[in-house]
Amino acid sequence: MDKLLIRGGRSLHGAIDISGAKNAALPEMCATLLTDEPVKLTNVPRLRDVATMRRLLENMGMTIETHGERGGMSFHALDPIHPEAPYELVKTMRASVLALGPLLARCGRARVSLPGGCAIGARPVEQHIKGLQAMGAIIDVEQGYMVARLPEGQSRLRGARITTDMITVTGTENFLMAASLAEGTTVLENAAQEPEITDLADMLIRMGARIQGHGTRRIVIEGVERLHGCEHAVVADRIECGTFLCAVAATGGDVVLRHGRRDHLDAVIDKLRDAGVDITEVPEGLRVHSSGPAWQHLKAQSFRTTEYPGFPTDMQAQFMALDAVSQGSSMVTETIFENRFMHVSELARLGANIQIDGKNAMVEGVGKLSGATVMATDLRASAGLVIAGLVAEGQTTIDRIYHLDRGYDQMEVKLRALGADIERVSE
Ligand code: EPU
Repeated sequence: MDKLLIRGGRSLHGAIDISGAKNAALPEMCATLLTDEPVKLTNVPRLRDVATMRRLLENMGMTIETHGERGGMSFHALDPIHPEAPYELVKTMRASVLALGPLLARCGRARVSLPGGCAIGARPVEQHIKGLQAMGAIIDVEQGYMVARLPEGQSRLRGARITTDMITVTGTENFLMAASLAEGTTVLENAAQEPEITDLADMLIRMGARIQGHGTRRIVIEGVERLHGCEHAVVADRIECGTFLCAVAATGGDVVLRHGRRDHLDAVIDKLRDAGVDITEVPEGLRVHSSGPAWQHLKAQSFRTTEYPGFPTDMQAQFMALDAVSQGSSMVTETIFENRFMHVSELARLGANIQIDGKNAMVEGVGKLSGATVMATDLRASAGLVIAGLVAEGQTTIDRIYHLDRGYDQMEVKLRALGADIERVSE
């Protein structure tokens, strides 16, 4: 298992590229199931989750090839498609549930393993099931699998009005994909508005789908009989961009994040500016400048995670690491997932002063952290630990970084290019 060794205390300088977004690439890979024509995606990030999704789709019979350096991947889902997502793959990546909608739309049946709980919470998928049932699917849960089919004599899902009990990102994506090939019109109320939803909708429209209102809480999809091939570039990863913004804020420095987009990160950028970080839009993307380590001059910020356009839960651990080394106290409230504070005890091993009380974490800024061995527990928690390691005195060893590799494209290579003292050690 690989580890990261970080010797903290260096500021970050230079320019790096922000990769394509994991959480856009994964649904977009699934969307290629919706046509028997070839589809090309570019700017696909090099991630473990992308490799897992590739295996899942190849397992269904799809032909997938990679092209060149720029994250090009082509997908060809010729018949017959084997509409199954087995537990062995789903258990390593919950996003596999994104295959359910497209498989039902394409094949009229699907057998997708239930994902089960994960490190950050129970994460049930009953909304996905309810929504697809509203579109006419018959779904039974058998031996840990969602077994879905269309009623006798029916070849397509039917348009429906779907109002989910809560806002769900992958749920909205499943409905968007399924509804694109359904008979009639689907209206999604309470839809997620994340930029990844908009990017998926843009791709589906390129494939011939008729979608309106993506990026708002109400999306209307008029089903079509066929979708065709297209080429689509995956949107830049706002969470990777936000993670590097927090890293530079924590260490101090001056960095250009090429392809970074302010309009996808307003809530995080507002908090960083309030803390005292200088962030500007430049032609290449975003420039972040901070005159020294956070403990010298930044003011800790309280925040509360909510759905987009609010503060993203996927940035909570990284911003908390920054708060832990800023001046003053702050309160972090996690409203999306019930168990997303696993980084707190690891941050404490580095000297952070954080108390958890239910959904709230009280963070008392400390002058310095000191390096230690810590364990990555989930993807974004790992990124928070990397930020803490970059400012801690001495050496920090982060174990189990396969979590980080699930969602960050060569993070240590990018950090090293900016001057960080960080290396990967394989055992
Ligand atoms: N929920 C239910 N029932 C459902 C669906 C969701 O109770 O049927 C609950 C969840 O348990 C959670 C809340 O609703 O408490 C929101 O969950 P959502 O469905 O929006 O999460 P998701 O679609 O499973 C995506 C991202 C996550 C990100 C969340 C929230 C992908 C592949 N994953 O998950 O990304 O945290 O939205 O923004 O897009 C990550 O990248 O590290 C990550 C965890």
